Amino acid sequence: MCGIIGTIGRGEAAPLVLEGLRRLEYRGYDSAGIATLVDGRILRRRAEGKLNHLADLLATDPIAGTTGIGHTRWATHGAPVERNAHPIATDRVAIVHNGIIENFADLRTELTAAGYAFTSDTDTEAVAMLLTREMENGATPQEAVARTLRRLHGAFAVAIIFAGYPELLICARRGSPVAVGYGEGEMYVGSDALALAPLTQRICYLDEGDWAVLSATGAQVYDSEDRPVDRPIKLTALSGAMIGKGNHRHFMHKEICEQPAVIGDTLSAFVNPTSRSVVLQDLPFDLAKISRVTIVACGTSFHSALVAKYWFEKLARMPVEVDIASEFRYRAADMPEGGLALFISQSGETADTLAALRYAKSQGQYIAVLVNQPESSMVREADVMLQTLCGPEIGVASTKAFTAQLAVLACFAIAMARARGKIDALREAELTTALSEVPSRIAEVLADEPAIEVLGKSLIEARDVLYLGRGTAYPLALEGALKLKELSYIHAEGYAAGEMKHGPIALVDENTPVVVLAPSDAYFDKTMSNISEVIARDGPVILITDEAGAAHAPAQAKVIVAPTCDPLIAPLVFAVPLQLLAYQVGVFRGADVDQPRNLAKSVTVE
Ligand code: AGP
Repeated sequence: MCGIIGTIGRGEAAPLVLEGLRRLEYRGYDSAGIATLVDGRILRRRAEGKLNHLADLLATDPIAGTTGIGHTRWATHGAPVERNAHPIATDRVAIVHNGIIENFADLRTELTAAGYAFTSDTDTEAVAMLLTREMENGATPQEAVARTLRRLHGAFAVAIIFAGYPELLICARRGSPVAVGYGEGEMYVGSDALALAPLTQRICYLDEGDWAVLSATGAQVYDSEDRPVDRPIKLTALSGAMIGKGNHRHFMHKEICEQPAVIGDTLSAFVNPTSRSVVLQDLPFDLAKISRVTIVACGTSFHSALVAKYWFEKLARMPVEVDIASEFRYRAADMPEGGLALFISQSGETADTLAALRYAKSQGQYIAVLVNQPESSMVREADVMLQTLCGPEIGVASTKAFTAQLAVLACFAIAMARARGKIDALREAELTTALSEVPSRIAEVLADEPAIEVLGKSLIEARDVLYLGRGTAYPLALEGALKLKELSYIHAEGYAAGEMKHGPIALVDENTPVVVLAPSDAYFDKTMSNISEVIARDGPVILITDEAGAAHAPAQAKVIVAPTCDPLIAPLVFAVPLQLLAYQVGVFRGADVDQPRNLAKSVTVE
């Protein structure tokens, strides 16, 4: 997703903005640019592709100025070429924008008819032209912004600088987050606190519809009705030091290896090791009286929701509906009185999930969010936040956030089961003890990485890969397929193993590897039958199982032996071989595993 950054103050703007853009790279992008103000004029440098191209351009053709804005663009309207790269500018204004202006075509028609000549294919240029027209008609920058914002439909986070106004930077948010950073004699704006972490930890988040006028010494925030308002300045927990690769080749590898630690940290916030019970924070609702649970998410977070469905239904006997946000939000079904709607999102900013949250809120549901970013938009609109304690997840493909989500969801399901009287204290203690073993079980998987790397080589040339699983291994099959697609660009599909005979088996031949997830649980024998059907058609099989399962593995199968573990925690433990497998295949194929093509870390557009 696009990233915006801006600075106003004493220091040279271009180096600060470029450093901030580097903190935003993880969001995914395909062009970048910077604009500053010098002697009353707007100067710009823009480049296609990675930030290094922009850095090289700035090195050979630098721009001065102490007020500047920058952008990493993830193309929505217009190809990822220089003329569509932000900042988009006229002779009066320069603007960077994250989001989509839904009525840009009408605005473009209106402005073209008024004689304004567009030079890009972007929706953003309509905003630049509206601002310019207002200022040509005598409006001040503040007046131009207030009037222009009222003309826009859609979602946006914008930062704007004005020719001849070096002491002014204006930003606004509607649907996409904006953080205002307070420095010493300097002010900043960014898409998130991570971008500003090296500059300041004093952060003010704009609320929905807010806009803010920044000078070098402070900011005045206005609400959607243009009334001056005070928004709190908070100290973010993020720091520049948290964003390093350490001695890992990629952020993704670092984050896969952090899982024992971050799951330990996350569990410590939910499990009392003495009583071996789950302790949730105070909830604004009674778990025992929840009539139904709806869980909504996207992508990998949707897969953790699917795993949770098995746990809530088996442990708490609670009926659960799970859906992807982009579909749920438009079905608009009535929701049951006294229902709980849980939204899972690593970023806390995914547009479809946020929209689904707002629908559920309008339906009178209790709203809970499970996020990794406690300062995100979803948290501000929820009744209660459950948090994964992973630290920043920089790799676009989610790994540690996924398993940490599972850890929290398992605790929540246990707490609900206890509240509903479906399990007793002894069973609760057994389950939390199983959870407490996750960090060491995952550490065992990590120690087996060399064997997994060898198996990764067997998939490099594959064109299609099937992933199969039963029970909670079915959502894992979906997640394993998504990881392979994201990281290696190989087509992969996850299926419930029992579904293979209902169509997908037609794909199976010697060129279609099948990855099967099969802990030695109640489903094991049935899944072994599926493996036999694949082998009978010369399909290459990679079986991920445990010791007991490996003893029954067919000779033709390549086997990854995961640690033996309680069925409750199998999804957390078995996720790691899938992550490592996809990572290795991506690396072997020379893909950019930290920022896969076309992907964004936080999808803040619909
Ligand atoms: C995960 O590997 C993907 N990058 C993607 O599917 C992601 O899970 C999805 O976009 C949801 O993001 P969120 O958890 O921040 O809402």
